[in-house]
Amino acid sequence: MMPTRSLPLPGTPVEELDTPAIVVDLDVVDSNLAKMQQVVTKNGTAIRPHTKTHKSPYFGWKQMRAGALGLTCSKVAEAEVLVDGGLTEILIANEIVGPSKTARLAALNRRANVVVAVDDPGNVRELSAAAVRAGVTIGVVVDVNIRLNRCGVEPGEPATTLARMVASARGLRFDGLMGYEGHVSAPPGEKQEIVTQAMKKFKAAMDDVKAAGLPVKIMTAGGTSTYATTGAVKFVTDIQAGSYIFMDGAYLKEMSDFDLALTVASTVISRPTPDRAVLDIGRKSMNAESGLPAVVDLPGATFARLNEEHGILQLEGDARRLKVGDRVSLMPMTCSTTINIHDYYFCVRDGRLEDVVPVAGRGAFW
Ligand SMILES: Cc1ncc(COP(=O)(O)O)c(C=O)c1O
Repeated sequence: MMPTRSLPLPGTPVEELDTPAIVVDLDVVDSNLAKMQQVVTKNGTAIRPHTKTHKSPYFGWKQMRAGALGLTCSKVAEAEVLVDGGLTEILIANEIVGPSKTARLAALNRRANVVVAVDDPGNVRELSAAAVRAGVTIGVVVDVNIRLNRCGVEPGEPATTLARMVASARGLRFDGLMGYEGHVSAPPGEKQEIVTQAMKKFKAAMDDVKAAGLPVKIMTAGGTSTYATTGAVKFVTDIQAGSYIFMDGAYLKEMSDFDLALTVASTVISRPTPDRAVLDIGRKSMNAESGLPAVVDLPGATFARLNEEHGILQLEGDARRLKVGDRVSLMPMTCSTTINIHDYYFCVRDGRLEDVVPVAGRGAFW
């Protein structure tokens, strides 16, 4: 981690920040949050943003202030980071298994409302025991497999049996159902059809659980790819979109509803040939598993290769004017996996540093 004394002061021009650095344009973040809030409000639903994207109470608070119902995360350690940051309405949209983790989850419920997803009877028993031991009540949603074939029980008898078990377990409170349909990357008509099919399964699960006499308070689903489709479904109470806050190359290829708020600033460290520039960015500061980053605002420059500590640009036309010491902004293909390898966000407005924000949940995958 960069020593605190080396961190730049507010007001520093963005071009003077040491690189590689994650630069976040706060005006664009604010506008993405406002746009999302407008749509969820219009749809009569709510948002419980997935913080897997930003892993930070700072942006979590921004989302709460913009109108979010609560926040979502995947791991107990992520929930601990959020609760330590003062956030108290959390959904862990994932299964939390094992005596230590369930005990930590129970302990968190002394300070906050941390709801968890389940898809296994043994896990329900384990959560119940942890809650009783800690003297708390843990809210639980039953994870229903509506499309992704990842975790989740099937709608109908399996979901209802598990819901009944949760509702009668000591120390647990049955809150409802979770049904994440996954990142739906498809043209609009096709996307609508995929969402419709997934929502049919979700509704069937809800109807069955209600018919068993259990109240269903939470019906949570959806992500950035489906915020408008899943979010418009009447019985869905909230969507769990995450990437919309910053966007990235993968999402901007398929939708323009939100704008790019996050780039990675880099510096040219070598100009070995007229058509090649080398940047101080590599796989240790840029995740490229879904593709190489895109060069922002530099026509004629193409990202050609990413080594461990070097990024190679192929240059044509005016881009060949690039000199050693020049800055190059890059758009990651996936923002969350790049954020997770950085210590800080450098948050700017009008080209000047406003806040240096730790990626507090970096490495909090346990
Ligand atoms: C359970 C769950 N909810 C929501 C999301 C939404 O993420 P995004 O909006 O970044 O696509 C994800 C993404 O992995 C997820 O796993």
